[in-house]
Amino acid sequence: MEEDVKRWERSYGKLRPAHKELLPHLPKKHQDLRRCSAANFRFILNMLQAFDSPFDMSQDYDTGEETIKRGREASFDINCTSQASTCEATDRVANGYPCLPDKNGIVISRENDAQLDGAVQNGQRSGSSCCEDGNNVDDSRCIDNRLKGGEARLEDVNKIAKPEKSFSKIKKISICGMDFQDPSLQLHVPPADVDKVRCIIRNIVRDWTKEGAFERDQCYKPILEELNYYFPNRSKERPPCCVVPGAGLARLACEISCLGFACQGNEFSYYMLICSSFILNNTQAPMEWVIYPWIHSNCNMTSDENQLQPVYFPDLHPGSAGITDGFSMCAGDFVEVYSHRGQEGMWDAVVTCFFIDTAHNIVEYIEIIAKILKPGGVWINLGPLLYHFADAVSYSGEEEMSLEISLEDVKKVALRYGLKMQKERTIETTYTANQKSMIQTRYTTAFWTMTKDGDSQTAPQR
Ligand SMILES: C[S@@+](CC[C@H](N)C(=O)[O-])C[C@H]1O[C@@H](n2cnc3c(N)ncnc32)[C@H](O)[C@@H]1O
Repeated sequence: MEEDVKRWERSYGKLRPAHKELLPHLPKKHQDLRRCSAANFRFILNMLQAFDSPFDMSQDYDTGEETIKRGREASFDINCTSQASTCEATDRVANGYPCLPDKNGIVISRENDAQLDGAVQNGQRSGSSCCEDGNNVDDSRCIDNRLKGGEARLEDVNKIAKPEKSFSKIKKISICGMDFQDPSLQLHVPPADVDKVRCIIRNIVRDWTKEGAFERDQCYKPILEELNYYFPNRSKERPPCCVVPGAGLARLACEISCLGFACQGNEFSYYMLICSSFILNNTQAPMEWVIYPWIHSNCNMTSDENQLQPVYFPDLHPGSAGITDGFSMCAGDFVEVYSHRGQEGMWDAVVTCFFIDTAHNIVEYIEIIAKILKPGGVWINLGPLLYHFADAVSYSGEEEMSLEISLEDVKKVALRYGLKMQKERTIETTYTANQKSMIQTRYTTAFWTMTKDGDSQTAPQR
């Protein structure tokens, strides 16, 4: 961010005096941008401090009250660097669910013993297909620093759900003693990592702010209404169970839980998992935190005021939202975790929102969804088919397996796996959009409800 602000200042500095006179407020705006960036950094630091550091932390900052450690090699930075990208998976996921809840009662768990790691996968989407505002950043559809099967230890991911520092200490650590605008804090961070953190910030707006309510109403509300329709008589003792693969920052999973489902979100991005765990388990009150999501680009802003607008979160405090027992987040790759035999016929409902196009092989996703549903179970999907690996070669230099089939073929495949279309329509929506921006990417998403063929005896309770 500092580099961007400096660039903007340089351009301003090159203006002729007569032109500068027309824009006398810009130097103050640049200072305001620095202050907002420092506030974003404070939040990120607080969030990261809530977890046992899985990072290489070798350089200490003495804050007077606590010692803050700083990674030797670009482990953090005022530009919101991705510490997650450097991490070994030192966070542990427990077997089975439900697990012991954290402060707000939400846990991170795993359903089987597939292995996890924190390997960096450079999965950034390129160009405008990835980016909401055409600024080559800011769509968490780009985020792909993921947990991947097969390399790290099972016990590593659970600490995500169990921050060991007390909240009050965390606040002290981040606020006291550090000058967030101190240029010496800035280290070189790969642009892709900076973008991922910016994507997370936009996902916070989508999932956990009042400003995101409009987008959530477009995407999550129809899904919740459909769940309500298919499961009208939800028992508190034995709530129907629902899994949300690619849960992102977990708001949809949280809402489904509040509706009366034993809900499990599944996610494999460390960025997403750390942030959702922080919001779910470490927030104490509504609107406790502030970020400035729109400061990273000057393009398509209708006013400086809009650009510098703070957003407060969480608009819903998960700890007092009324979640149903059994709410959990399962860390790991959807294919690896849910293709496990123990998952077969386990779920009353599968909800996918902006997820199925993340597949290397969408047929495999559909096969797994069909398998894990109980007979008569319900698959609700909303999303486009912006296949994530379609242009992998442009950002990773390597071709990746990417099966890119049409909506028509997706539906044919689903039918072959015994999934019957019950309802189908399209829904216009944005994804992590700045509603006040002059550019908006709108998706005409496919929204459907399918049910799995099944014996009514064993069908889920309706
Ligand atoms: C486009 S985002 C959608 C997030 C959320 N469902 C929403 O609507 O805001 C897709 C999410 O799926 C996650 N994801 C992608 N592939 C995955 C996989 N194989 N297993 C688990 N999560 C995955 C990504 O990390 C990302 O958070």
